[in-house]
This record gives sequence, structure tokens and C-alpha cells, in this order.
Amino acid sequence: MSPQPVLTLDSVSKSFGRIEVIHDVTVDVYPGEVTVLLGENGAGKSTLIKMIAGVHQPTSGRILLDGEPVSITDTKTSESLGIATIHQELNLVPSMTVAENITLGRTPRRFGVINRAEMRRIARDALAQIGLDLDVDTHVGELGIARQQLVEIAKALSLDARILILDEPTAALTTSEIEALFDVVRDLKAKNVGMVFISHHLDEIAAIGDRVNVLRDGGFVAQVPATTDEDELIRLMVGRSIDKQFPREPGVTVQNTPGDGDAAAPGSTAGSGAAQPLLEVKGLNADGLRGIDLSVRPGEVVALAGLMGAGRTELLRCLAGADHYASGEVRVNGRKLKPYDVAAATRAGVGHVPEDRKTQGLVLDASVAENIGYATMGATSRFGLVDRRGQKARAEKIAERLRIRMDSIEQPIRSLSGGNQQKAVFGRWFSAGSKVLLLDEPTRGVDVGAKVEIYELINEITAGGGCVLMASSDLPEVLGMSDRVLVMSQGTIAGELPTAEATQDSIMQLAVSNVHRDEEEPHAASADTGDEGATA
Ligand SMILES: Nc1ncnc2c1ncn2[C@@H]1O[C@H](COP(=O)(O)OP(=O)(O)OP(=O)(O)O)[C@@H](O)[C@H]1O
Ligand SMILES: [Mg+2]
Repeated sequence: MSPQPVLTLDSVSKSFGRIEVIHDVTVDVYPGEVTVLLGENGAGKSTLIKMIAGVHQPTSGRILLDGEPVSITDTKTSESLGIATIHQELNLVPSMTVAENITLGRTPRRFGVINRAEMRRIARDALAQIGLDLDVDTHVGELGIARQQLVEIAKALSLDARILILDEPTAALTTSEIEALFDVVRDLKAKNVGMVFISHHLDEIAAIGDRVNVLRDGGFVAQVPATTDEDELIRLMVGRSIDKQFPREPGVTVQNTPGDGDAAAPGSTAGSGAAQPLLEVKGLNADGLRGIDLSVRPGEVVALAGLMGAGRTELLRCLAGADHYASGEVRVNGRKLKPYDVAAATRAGVGHVPEDRKTQGLVLDASVAENIGYATMGATSRFGLVDRRGQKARAEKIAERLRIRMDSIEQPIRSLSGGNQQKAVFGRWFSAGSKVLLLDEPTRGVDVGAKVEIYELINEITAGGGCVLMASSDLPEVLGMSDRVLVMSQGTIAGELPTAEATQDSIMQLAVSNVHRDEEEPHAASADTGDEGATA
């Protein structure tokens, strides 16, 4: 017999309006165990945990704590019941400091006055738990997404909860940070904390999970042990097996774009042979970037690998016109691109999928159709007015192509599941016919099946003469989907490897090549790169 569950979702259902997104699901959470929720994007994982966190209330069914029914009417109640939640979409206040965020809602006071020293102490202790060395007076808005994620984790840990819920906590983290987090999880298991864990990385399930509850379309499919092999988990989750996780079709080196007049093709390459680069960067210097030279030819997928803070995000942002650079030049199809001008980059055929879709990629209150259509305003406007019907039709096509799970294309994008939002950002550039795609962690939070769909789009873009520059911390993805790997370290390109000859080890070796040997340093050392903000 198993011990008594510390928490039970007992036949819960949840509807939003007339639409039922969770149907009669039962999940038990045991003390000292990690209960995994597994399912495709939109399966209902986050909605389930939001009922535990007090964000949503079940439409029917009960929640039991130690076998007793409880009513979790709001997030405060959830916390007071000893439940801490790390949400998929971060809940930090960017204008507040790390310390203020961690102690939010329970600010320590002395004689009625905020006790800043105590506040900093709580925050420092919390960060120390996950081995994060960060100035607690830094404003959260200055931090990159990985570090924000770590702050969110630290905040939840500092609540000393008996139930901890982790909704895709690892999506933005690198291997060493994930390991640090898992050490904490193992420690909490030993302390009998009951945990719920959600991740699209199946290897993580084997690493820390105990039992896996599989969901599909808001319904319960099966409960299996975490030792179940990956193929079987995929089959349960997707309802079919996936034979090729990385369907890259390499070597589609194309000359210049056929037909497509608006793709800015001035120097239509005379001879055949090696096509002229579609994207070319020379001597680019910017905040945290030094002397970047690179070129990407039509038909190529080039991966940017490196540690957190190596400058990958910053580089992509400069190329996309989202950030300023001090010197150097960027050429698209031979034509010099105006710096720091997103609209000019978009017109030149550059598409950017940023690392943080919530603040940089999407207009959350706008509809799915509008979000997909933003980059195609030109193509779909008639007589200066946005052609909503045209926009809608295009968006519908691309949403279907990417299997974006939603009720209606007119639905606000905010109400889509995380992975489906990510697909929508991708869909925007695909429907805009972008030729140079700059992808920053393009499949973060995307389920295994949908990843393959995105990879197929990448193939299609390169087969059509486009090119892709892709920052990814997912080394299997780098090895499986790129043709060449550029490894960044400390704001420079430390080396280049043909993917066919690269291994995880050879990439990591280059990634740490400029980093000082001190194990303590990586966080501090990355402080000078633009994408991770100042820690000084
Ligand atoms: N506030 C809301 N209003 C309407 N529909 C919603 C709302 N919140 C979630 N949904 C819908 O509920 C379904 C389940 O979403 P949920 O976020 O739980 O999925 P998920 O399993 O966490 O997916 P992901 O892996 O992408 O994070 C989706 O179809 C989503 O569009
Ligand atoms: Mg989710």
C-alpha cells in the first residue's frame, strides 16, 4: 500500500466559458515523491496545477489535503496551506529587486518599517539553496530569463512548503543549473515534501520523477512509473509514436531565391557553386559582444551554442534590429541592414523568435490571428487598412499547419498554453515568408510532437533558400538540426564545428574555453554580457 497522499485532485473538471479543458482527472501527490504531469502542449497540465495554486477553481470535483476536502479560493490560501508554486510563466515584478520579489507578500518588518537587512538575508539564503550568486538588489527586469527563472525557484523554495509545484522550471535553464535544481529536489524528497513536476524533457522525468500521470486533451490517459522508457511515454502522450525526433534534411544548399521578388535579391549570384551568404556579419561589437564575424548561406541552419551569458541572445537581438551595436555591419543578401531598426530588418526578410515570448514576442491581449499577422501587416493591408479577413485566413492556415491548439483564431493569445504561444511566434515569421530566421531557443516549452513540426518548418524554410541562425541550449537539438555549430564564449565566437563532426563534449569544451577556470565564476563572469544584466 502506498502512503496516504498529501494532496489529491479528485475527479476535477475545469471549463472556461463553455469549453471544458480538463475532464474528470484524478491525481495523487505523495509525500517524498515527485509526481510528473506529462502531456502535449495544451493537454491541461498548467490548468491542473493552477487549481492547486488557487489561480483557478475546479468547475467540479474536489481537492483533498491529507484526505480532507479544502477550498483553495486564491493564491494566498494555497500558500497558507503549505503549497508553493513555480509557474510556467514567471510571476516576478520586473521593477522590483530580487530581494523584494523573493519576499513579496511577506515583507519582513521591524517596528512597522520594512526591515531591508532581513529581507536581503532571506533572499540570499534562498539563492544560496540553488547555488545562485546574484546581487539581491538587482532589479529583476535587468536579468535574463534564465536568471529570472532561478529567482522564481528560489522564491518558492524560501516558503518552506510541504507541497512544491514546478511547472516547466527547467525550460530556460542550462545543464548545470538543472543539476543544481535537481539536487534541491532530491533533498526535498528526503524531507518528505510532495512535489508535482512538469517538463517536456523526458530524460528529466527519469532523473527525478517517481510516477507519471499522462494527460491527453484534458483527460487522464495513464499512470506509469517514471522508469517507463521514452518511446512508450511519447506514445502515451501523443497517441502515436514518433520515429524521427530530428528530421533535418541537410545539404539543401540553394542558390539564390527563385522568383520571390520581394526577397531583396540584388546581387543575384552569377555563377552557381557556393551561394553568396544570405546573412553576413562583420566586426560586430556591442554590449557584451566582441568582434563577431559570421556568415550563413542560403539553405543552412547554423546553431549558436554556448553557456548562459555567452552573448547568444544579445547577438541575435542586434541582428534583428532589437538592440543597438557600437560598430560593425550586418548584411542580408548583400545589402547592408540599418542598425537598431526592427521594421527595416523585417522588411529585409529577417524574422526573430526571441527568448522571452511573453515580453518580447507577443501582444498578449491581441488575438492569435493578430499576433501571427503582425509581421505581415504590409502583405495583408489594402488601401492602408489592415485586411482582417486576409490576415485571419493566413493565420488560420499557419495555425493549422503548426497544429496550434485553440478554440478560435480570435481568442486572445494569452489564453493559449505556453507551448502553443511559442508556436504562434514561430508561425508569424513563417507566414511572413522570412528568409533569415533568428531563433532564440525556438523549442523551449514545446512538446516532442510539436518540436518535430517546427523542425519540419525549418527544413522547409531552408529548402526554399532561406537560412536559420539558431541559439539553442538543447545540445541534442543542436546536433540533430544544424549543419554547422558556432560556439560562443564570453561574447566572442570561440570556434566553429561542422555538426557532423561535433559532439556534446567538443561543443562544451569550446563553450568554456574563454571562461576562467574557477567553478564559482560563470555567473559572475557573465555579468558583463548584455543579455544577463548587471550584477555589480
Ligand atoms: N484562461 C483561459 N481561458 C480559456 N482557455 C484557457 C485558459 N487557460 C487555458 N486555456 C486552455 O486550456 C487548455 C490547456 O492549457 P494548459 O495551459 O493547461 O496546457 P499545458 O498542458 O500546460 O500546455 P503547455 O505544455 O503548452 O504548457 C488549452 O487549450 C488552453 O488554450
Ligand atoms: Mg503549461
